[in-house]
Amino acid sequence: MPNPEEKVALITGGSSGIGLDAAKRLSKMGYQVIISGRSLSNLEIAKKEFPDPVRQPLLIPADVSDEQQVKGLVEKTIENFGKVDLVFAAAGISMRAPFVDSKIDAIEHLMRVNFFGVLYLIHHVLPWLKKTRGSFVAMSSLTGKRGVPEYSIYGASKFALQGLLDSIRIEVERDGVHIGVISTGFVDTPLRNRILGGDGKVLENPPPLPFKLWPLEKCMEIVMQVILKRQRDAIFPRFIRPLLGFDPINHGKMGDRYLKRKFGYQ
Ligand SMILES: NC(=O)c1ccc[n+]([C@@H]2O[C@H](COP(=O)([O-])OP(=O)(O)OC[C@H]3O[C@@H](n4cnc5c(N)ncnc54)[C@H](OP(=O)(O)O)[C@@H]3O)[C@@H](O)[C@H]2O)c1
Repeated sequence: MPNPEEKVALITGGSSGIGLDAAKRLSKMGYQVIISGRSLSNLEIAKKEFPDPVRQPLLIPADVSDEQQVKGLVEKTIENFGKVDLVFAAAGISMRAPFVDSKIDAIEHLMRVNFFGVLYLIHHVLPWLKKTRGSFVAMSSLTGKRGVPEYSIYGASKFALQGLLDSIRIEVERDGVHIGVISTGFVDTPLRNRILGGDGKVLENPPPLPFKLWPLEKCMEIVMQVILKRQRDAIFPRFIRPLLGFDPINHGKMGDRYLKRKFGYQ
C-alpha cells in the first residue's frame, strides 16, 4: 500500500545521466520514485543503483515521443500511488549538425522527443499536479537561450520548451503548481556518446566539444535547488547569466562574432 505521507516523483530520462542522478537523490530523501525511459532493460540496469531495498524505484517504460505512451505513463503512476507531487522531465536527445545538412525526418523526430515529449507530459499530468500543488521541472539547455551554430534544431526544441513552460507557469501559479526550467551547458553524461548527426543517426566521430564539459555533480547542485526550492529557473554554469543579459544590448553582435570564431564560420 502506498504511504500517503510519501512524496511521489515521476522522472522521464530516469535510466541515465541527469534524470537517473536526480532519481537517486530524491529516493535517498524519501521520495517514492518512478523512473521512465524507452527501454525496460536500461531501467532495470539503472534500478541496481538504488541500494535501499525499501526504496526501490517503480519502472515504467514509455517513449515520450508517443502521446499515448505518455498518457499511459501518467495513468500507471496514478494507479500505483494515487497522486504525483513532482515531475522531472529529463528525457532528451541531442543533435549537432549544420542546418543545411539536417534531414526533415530527423528534425521532426528530435522535436517530438525534446519538445512534444514535454508537452504531452505536462498536458496529461497537470490536472494531477494541481491536486498536490506539485512541481513540474524540465531540462533545457543554454542553446534554448541563445542561438548557437550547429545546434539549430536541438536549440529550437529547447527554445520551444522554454516558451511553453513560461506561458503555462503564469496560468497555473494561482493553483500552487511550480514550473521550473533548467538551462545547462555541456555536462558529463552518456548523452555525449549518442549525439545525433543531421541524418538522425548517432555520430560515430562527434566533433570536439566547443565548450567546457562540466562534471555531473556540479550540475546536480543546480538541478536539486530548482526542484527542492521550487525555483523558476536556473542557468548552469552561473556565470553565463550576465553574458546572456548583455548579449541583446548590442543586438547579439559580440556573441555572434564569438560563436563564428569558435565554430569556424568567419
Ligand atoms: N548532458 C548535457 O550536456 C546536457 C546539456 C543541456 C541539456 N541537457 C538535457 O538534459 C536532459 C538529460 O540529458 P542527459 O545528459 O542526462 O542525457 P542521457 O544520459 O543521454 O539521458 C537521456 C535519457 O532520456 C531517455 N530518452 C531518450 N529518448 C527518449 C524517448 N524517446 N522517450 C523516453 N525516454 C527517452 C534515455 O533513456 P532510453 O535511451 O532508455 O530511452 C535516458 O534515460 C536532456 O533533456 C538533455 O537535452 C543535457
